[in-house]
Amino acid sequence: MLFNEELLRAFLTTSVFGKQIQFLEKTVSTNNHAFSLAFKGAPEGTAVLADCQTGGKGRMSRSWFSPPGKNIYTTVILRPEMDPALSPQVTLIAGVAVAELLYKYCPGKVTLKWPNDVLIGGRKVCGILAESRSSAVKIEYIVVGIGININMQENELDESLRQIATSLKIETGRDFIREEVAARLYESLEKWYFIFRDSGFEPIREKWLECSGMTGKEISYSSQGVTVKGRVTGMDNDGALLCNVNGEIQRLIAGEIALAAR
Ligand code: BTN
Repeated sequence: MLFNEELLRAFLTTSVFGKQIQFLEKTVSTNNHAFSLAFKGAPEGTAVLADCQTGGKGRMSRSWFSPPGKNIYTTVILRPEMDPALSPQVTLIAGVAVAELLYKYCPGKVTLKWPNDVLIGGRKVCGILAESRSSAVKIEYIVVGIGININMQENELDESLRQIATSLKIETGRDFIREEVAARLYESLEKWYFIFRDSGFEPIREKWLECSGMTGKEISYSSQGVTVKGRVTGMDNDGALLCNVNGEIQRLIAGEIALAAR
């Protein structure tokens, strides 16, 4: 079933996010679509929501499994006034917003994995991909793409994902009205984006650490072919993950982490 536009609008209580929304039956990637809308001047808060993607993409050139009729694939256009060097913070804002949303459906089971994953029971339910266009001093726009697995059952997941991914339905045993979840997502994104705009990154940093439960955890960190092991000590005020590696605090700014097996 495609998204019911009227139903989504009936659920929506935002002032900006999702007020302008493009519903697509199929697209290569909602990020690509939103990027070209932003380039043509679409205002902040404009959203693209697709029923299915033929080239859904993730970080590090990965693909995002995007079958029709089941999930949410959406991208929101932002035009923040911030230093381009701090743009990775936007992924963390979106992570906090998604975690708070999903917590309502799965209390006690939702965690964040730096920098862009939301997990339920340790399995990935959502990925976030932010892409931006900026000059040296100014961000023109950032498109924040969010994929959330909603009504897929275990046997509908790609085989390669069955051990590591999940959906709201797998976790709760019930179906969700995608339009309602999408509307709540835009509300949560707007709430946390406005907190960031009005009060800066500190409230996001605090909430992110609270939701992630990562402080004190052993991780391994890989970047550019090198893997190191360490213990998470916190998050810096620019969004870098702080990690004690052999007694020295390192700032992780890119790359991938894995939680050490307990
Ligand atoms: C990741 O886990 O590496 C990020 C995945 C992001 C997937 C979403 S789905 C909507 C938007 N469009 C895309 O092509 N990617 C993002």
